[in-house]
Amino acid sequence: MKDRLRTHLLPGLVLENPLLSASGCFGAGLEGASTGESGILGAIVTKTVTLRPRAGNPPPRIFETSGGLLNSIGLANPGIESFLERDLPGALALGPPVIVNIGGETSGEYAALAERLQDSGAAALEVNLSCPNVQGGSLPFSTDPDACRRVVSELRRATDLPLFVKLSPNTHAVVEVACAAVEGGADGLTLINTLLGMAVDWRRRRPRIGMGVAGYSGPPVKPVALRIVHQVRRAVGVPILGVGGIQSAEDVCEFLVAGASAVQIGTAWFTDPRAGSWILSRLERLLAEEDTSVDDLVDSMGKERRSGRGHGCA
Ligand code: FUM
Repeated sequence: MKDRLRTHLLPGLVLENPLLSASGCFGAGLEGASTGESGILGAIVTKTVTLRPRAGNPPPRIFETSGGLLNSIGLANPGIESFLERDLPGALALGPPVIVNIGGETSGEYAALAERLQDSGAAALEVNLSCPNVQGGSLPFSTDPDACRRVVSELRRATDLPLFVKLSPNTHAVVEVACAAVEGGADGLTLINTLLGMAVDWRRRRPRIGMGVAGYSGPPVKPVALRIVHQVRRAVGVPILGVGGIQSAEDVCEFLVAGASAVQIGTAWFTDPRAGSWILSRLERLLAEEDTSVDDLVDSMGKERRSGRGHGCA
């Protein structure tokens, strides 16, 4: 039965099941240990870490809308040295492979983080090129294919850890940017980061979030994420981690069929701290009922044969 859940992301990275935490929604996995969630995941993806500590954005940083969540955390984190000393050892002790999400403002910062993490025990790096909440941050790397190719190439030279590049939906050029990431040496992609959104307190004539604009996540973004996963999978041959509004095992199956090799759970944990466990047990039942497996479902919608890296990119 367990084999049905397994997902072969990369030759050296086979996960026991396709459920991962979405960066930023699970810290370094330690809080999830008390609910039993951390241990059941296929992999833990940690909150973005930067070279230096960041205090993050002014409050309010979170607002619940009628159909989802706005966040503007601003990459608050303790910085790489504290992360390596305090957070990562705890995360590694939880059991599942740990994928460390990194963020920076220059390609040199990304490369320095990758070098620092090379022998840390991390199974892979998730490269956050798409945080919408930092001014002068990484977003240009996620909207300009040339900038994306350059930063990923520099990272590729800095580490041999697998690189999953996390891209933004806030561009018309997402397929071109994804192709550039693969050309630069990405082993996989994470699609998608949050959509740009806003909530307004009309009586006070001001936005509900301190920075005004924020990242929007939750069930309403699922169709956007599915569309992007599918479009990008048509163009590239690397594994995709699908993320955006996943709440149920059926959602997971939709992402797998559309082209994801694994998925990330994020906002769902804010409404149900045991969301991962429920989803996993139902997923196991669904796969048994259909007599299928995660690997069989991956990219099984209108399957055309593709091979190699970047096949289908211009
Ligand atoms: O504001 C934040 O820390 C969000 C990060 C992200 O969406 O990548």
